[in-house]
Amino acid sequence: MYSYYRANQAEIDQIAKALAGEYNAIQCYEHMANLAKNEEEKKQIMEIRNDEINHYQTFAAIYQSLSGMQYSPKQTEKCPGDYIGALTAAFKDEQETVDFYLDIAENASSPYIRKQFKRASADEQNHAVWFLYYFMQNK
Ligand SMILES: [Fe+2]
Ligand SMILES: [Fe+2]
Repeated sequence: MYSYYRANQAEIDQIAKALAGEYNAIQCYEHMANLAKNEEEKKQIMEIRNDEINHYQTFAAIYQSLSGMQYSPKQTEKCPGDYIGALTAAFKDEQETVDFYLDIAENASSPYIRKQFKRASADEQNHAVWFLYYFMQNK
């Protein structure tokens, strides 16, 4: 049991990092939705935020099954105060997360974990495109 736990520690750490990112996004996208220039953008940002909530819940369950512990979230990053700054930060973060999740998927210890991180990676790519589009509309 102990060696199994040790073998998975790197994966557990990566999933904790993914959870921290999702938690941060959930907080900051709510803030961003309130800065949106029209109802359509606001609605889309809240839909993206719902995807992040789903990712968070899926990853938290994986984290618990691997580590035997419940993940406890804390806000680590500050959300940008203006809309353009928020869109730029979100776009970059989503793009980086695509690669990060593909990395986790590639080294995943189970097909289920691989599938969930591949699926989330595709969602993040879609989010990045939306944020880039809104950035172009608002710059
Ligand atoms: Fe996400
Ligand atoms: Fe995302």
